[in-house]
Amino acid sequence: MKGIVLAGGNGSRLYPITQAVSKQLLPVYDKPMVYYPLSVLMLAGIRDILIISSPPDLPNFRKLLGDGSHLGLSFSYAEQPAPNGLAEAILIGADFIGDDPVALVLGDNIFYGQGFSRRLQEEVTTVTGCTLFGYPVNDPGRYGVGELDDAGRLVSIEEKPERPRSNKAITGLYFYDNSVVDIARSLEPSRRGELEITDVNRTYLELGTARLVDLGRGFAWLDTGTHDSLLDAAQFVQVLEHRTGVRIACIEEIALRMGFIDADQCLELGRGLATSGYGDYVMSIARQFAVSG
Ligand code: DAU
Repeated sequence: MKGIVLAGGNGSRLYPITQAVSKQLLPVYDKPMVYYPLSVLMLAGIRDILIISSPPDLPNFRKLLGDGSHLGLSFSYAEQPAPNGLAEAILIGADFIGDDPVALVLGDNIFYGQGFSRRLQEEVTTVTGCTLFGYPVNDPGRYGVGELDDAGRLVSIEEKPERPRSNKAITGLYFYDNSVVDIARSLEPSRRGELEITDVNRTYLELGTARLVDLGRGFAWLDTGTHDSLLDAAQFVQVLEHRTGVRIACIEEIALRMGFIDADQCLELGRGLATSGYGDYVMSIARQFAVSG
């Protein structure tokens, strides 16, 4: 399966912070925001990843992430000239996707929860049609909303409905089979003038091949859309990391644990980040791993 991180948009809800810096490169406590969605793809076992951003921001993503080989990954880059909608990522990435299934993740979505990695890997191997991930929220009208029937089947999908039919927000992580490319090509822009991902998902629903996996209450899906939610997300990560001593979305650690790199390579990555607590952490993980295997 291929992976796409969509990290464009103009971040206008975070102005003036995002007037000169991409939203998805802003820090969420100890690391850039894009590390969080990137780590989701890595935990799913996806190694071939396309990063899409706006023309002025794309060079900064390249500077941060390079070609991915240091993490045992392959990164490609593509421009989205204007924020014409989330589904445009599929069109921009069509050649990259080729004949494969694809996971699309929004560059500003943060996921955290026990067993997430195992769950992702299971979904990757079984994807037919589209798999969406739902999360209960108290303000569903701000998101895509999915409704399940009593048997757990997805029966409706709506984008930012005035009267939501459920409290299940559809998160910014989407697994698609290869027919997504044809579906995206057949889309018409919405009233907002965008190619809506919700229209892609609704097409799968009409074909009877859309599933909604409920992430449930024991899970965290965090928003970074406003000044307050960005700070809340950073504080959430800080509290968890201080309490447990384990870092969330440390891409070097994930690359090591997933077997994409070995302990020596991880140690080198940590050295390159030295003088930061993050770099010390990467080195300590590499040393522990070298001893315990
Ligand atoms: O976060 C999950 C939600 O993301 C879903 O529940 C909604 O169904 C989905 O439409 C989307 O809603 P948002 O209101 O968050 O969409 P927004 O337009 O803010 O875009 C989400 C991110 O994607 C944001 O970081 C900017 C980026 N983006 C957006 C557009 C429209 C792009 O990179 N390119 C784009 O063309």
